[in-house]
Amino acid sequence: MAEQKQFVGQAEFAKGLEGVIACESTMGYVDGKEGKLIYRGYDIFELAEHSTFEETSYLLLFGKLPSQSELDDFKQKLVQQRAVPKEVINALKIVAKTAHPMASLRTGVSVLGAMDKNAEDESIENYTSIGISLIAKMATIAGAITRFRKGKKPVDPDPKLDHTANFLYMMNGQKPDDYTARVMDVSLILHADHGMNASTFSSMVVASSMSDMYSAITAGIASLKGSLHGGANEQVMHMLDEIGSVDKVDAWVDDAIATKKKLMGFGHRVYKAYDPRATILGEYSQKITEAHGRKDLYDMAKRMEDKVIAAYGERGIFPNVDFYSGTIYSAFGIETALFTPIFAVSRISGWAGRVIEYVTENRLFRPRAVYTGEMEAKYVPMAQR
Ligand SMILES: CC(C)(COP(=O)(O)OP(=O)(O)OC[C@H]1O[C@@H](n2cnc3c(N)ncnc32)[C@H](O)[C@@H]1OP(=O)(O)O)[C@@H](O)C(=O)NCCC(=O)NCCS
Repeated sequence: MAEQKQFVGQAEFAKGLEGVIACESTMGYVDGKEGKLIYRGYDIFELAEHSTFEETSYLLLFGKLPSQSELDDFKQKLVQQRAVPKEVINALKIVAKTAHPMASLRTGVSVLGAMDKNAEDESIENYTSIGISLIAKMATIAGAITRFRKGKKPVDPDPKLDHTANFLYMMNGQKPDDYTARVMDVSLILHADHGMNASTFSSMVVASSMSDMYSAITAGIASLKGSLHGGANEQVMHMLDEIGSVDKVDAWVDDAIATKKKLMGFGHRVYKAYDPRATILGEYSQKITEAHGRKDLYDMAKRMEDKVIAAYGERGIFPNVDFYSGTIYSAFGIETALFTPIFAVSRISGWAGRVIEYVTENRLFRPRAVYTGEMEAKYVPMAQR
């Protein structure tokens, strides 16, 4: 093993960068001990009660709540930006039926970037206008992916509908009732930003080389896809499907604990208390599953939560944001594989806001590794190996 040499500015080694501070930000704050989440100073419970996804996106991008005219203008811009070029739709038509929807979403955003003549403009104004455009267009792309997977044609956006109602409309082909649209809107608010999580960090790392906004967001999508991150909501649903009914939960969880199985939708790198987003989504899950005739899903999830907290709560393992979101989306009739794209349709606001904030005072991300390999290996000619 190589002897470690110190280098200038050396920070302490932390696997997975756990606890490492990599930047300053006014975007948001996660208090893992108290189970508190703040966007730009506002508690998530307040935003979930009073705000909308459009307003929260404005807050994340511009750092303040909009006036009425600023919000109207922002919403108008989002409506105008919903349409995507036909080349993007054609690319989705090729991949969406068979690829994982997150791979399709990543492809869609990548093609979008390749089609944009202004993609390389490094001004903050351009980063901001692409950010707004992507908040609008990622919903359209996710809607088209949903439709292609069902063998149907994409649904054109309806300019009369707000962002979230239109998103549901483009996925399901039916205009949602007000309560359904509101529950989805709250879910999008809750998923919009969450500190320096893996996907946000991935976006920021790419942006820090002054690549471009599309590349940064594509990287965020790629990272969010993983089952330890955004992909956990899908795994929760597969887990509930496997369990099957509420009377089977106890035995299933006992076995999972005995065999040290990882329980999807539980635990968090930062929260060692109850995730506030899971508190809000749990309450909505109870109401919406009942309204859509899928109370069985909530009952299973709640029973599981009680069992897992009894076993692991003392170790700081509680439900996270992904635990109840899937029960809500399932009640809406949305296919499980689409859960992570829905997460991305929300998180784009956080990715864009943090990328813009970071590149405004940019410094290239460049950590180092502890080298554990050999130092003086001698080259061995091929014939002697
Ligand atoms: C999110 C996650 C990666 C964070 O993990 P972390 O803080 O790095 O914690 P670790 O993976 O190091 O786990 C610490 C201990 O808790 C246990 N643990 C953590 N999450 C657990 C879970 N969901 N189920 C069972 N045990 C869990 C680990 O097995 C480990 O036990 P050990 O000390 O006996 O080895 C982890 O909790 C996890 O994989 N959860 C499931 C996936 C998920 O829901 N992801 C979405 C996050 S929003």
